[in-house]
Amino acid sequence: MSRATTVINAPGTPGYQVLVGRGLLDELKTSLGDAVRKVLLVYPEGMQASAELIAETMTSLGKQIWQLPVADGENAKTDKWLSVAWSSLGQAEFSRSDAVVSLGGGATTDLAGFIAATWLRGISVIHIPTTLLGMVDAAIGGKTGINTLEGKNLVGAFHEPKAVIVDLDTLESLPKLELISGFGEIVKYGFIADPVILDLIEEDVEDARNIHSDRFEELVRRSIAIKTSVVGQDFKESSLREILNYGHTLAHSIELVEHFKWRHGRAVSVGLCFAAELGRLTGRLSDDVADRHKSILKSLDLPTSYPADRWESLFTGMQVDKKSRGGMLRFVVLDGLAKPGILEAPTKEMLFTAYQEIAE
Ligand SMILES: NC(=O)c1ccc[n+]([C@@H]2O[C@H](COP(=O)([O-])OP(=O)(O)OC[C@H]3O[C@@H](n4cnc5c(N)ncnc54)[C@H](O)[C@@H]3O)[C@@H](O)[C@H]2O)c1
Repeated sequence: MSRATTVINAPGTPGYQVLVGRGLLDELKTSLGDAVRKVLLVYPEGMQASAELIAETMTSLGKQIWQLPVADGENAKTDKWLSVAWSSLGQAEFSRSDAVVSLGGGATTDLAGFIAATWLRGISVIHIPTTLLGMVDAAIGGKTGINTLEGKNLVGAFHEPKAVIVDLDTLESLPKLELISGFGEIVKYGFIADPVILDLIEEDVEDARNIHSDRFEELVRRSIAIKTSVVGQDFKESSLREILNYGHTLAHSIELVEHFKWRHGRAVSVGLCFAAELGRLTGRLSDDVADRHKSILKSLDLPTSYPADRWESLFTGMQVDKKSRGGMLRFVVLDGLAKPGILEAPTKEMLFTAYQEIAE
């Protein structure tokens, strides 16, 4: 392992390691271990070249590789691709001691994780996330799943990875919009748990966005450390894990209204500004911390407002979130920097007043 690699131990049963660094793809062999003989490598079609390199290395090390190129992005998170994967695993006679490896963004890690969770009631999965969102969020924490015609992420399982390899070099080819979108979650971690993240961005935003900088690497490391720690204390989202939803109630609704054409992190950015206004309005959050949301997200070129005339659709969209939270609208709000709390059942009027502060 290169000296600059950071190992983050994700607590859990049994827990797993997240390796963060550069040029880490060779780590896959160690992470897989000797017992794994067969590997299903799942990746979006567009990542064929990187997948070939991994497959060649693994083959030269004596592993048998089955490549499964899947559709790009959300189009992969379907029962169709699940069924294609099950057929491949069945025909190749994968056993309990074999493994799935994902290479791609959050859509790929979600699908591959669910394939692994369901084959023989659960085999190992190693994630190699290649988007910033995948690195700091989707690949960490063991949530896996697919979409159905009725909605996103409705079918899934909690299935911890055996390891996560966060190789920052894989971000070289990531389009800028995707990279910036990943910062929505990083800023969220800063506000709910680690204000040093906010300081690091404010000190030098260009350096923070430079994937080659130490500052960028530190932001990724800190974000992963928070996610692993929160999930480690509440794997199945019965309480603490809910704080990771800061900004997400409105964000999910924006994604619905935009027919999932908006990148998740951009919707989260607007959602964070909205949550800050709710905190301010209820007297729980000071003006300076509330204002800091907008200024930091703006400096990263993330959106901080949304059209005024979409309020009713957004409110309707938020009711979907309500269904999954015991029939009550619940918002994560801050009682100060890094002090997340819950706001239960706010009135429509209160939500509308907060919305007016971010409406354009
Ligand atoms: N399981 C979880 O806890 C969790 C958390 C957050 C999000 N998610 C899920 O993650 C998904 C979103 O993830 P995402 O934002 O990474 O999107 P994505 O996986 O759709 O990837 C975005 C795009 O970037 C491309 N891409 C990926 N890596 C690349 C690279 N290195 N170079 C060039 N192109 C690359 C992909 O092919 C795709 O076109 C959603 O399905 C969401 O539900 C899951």
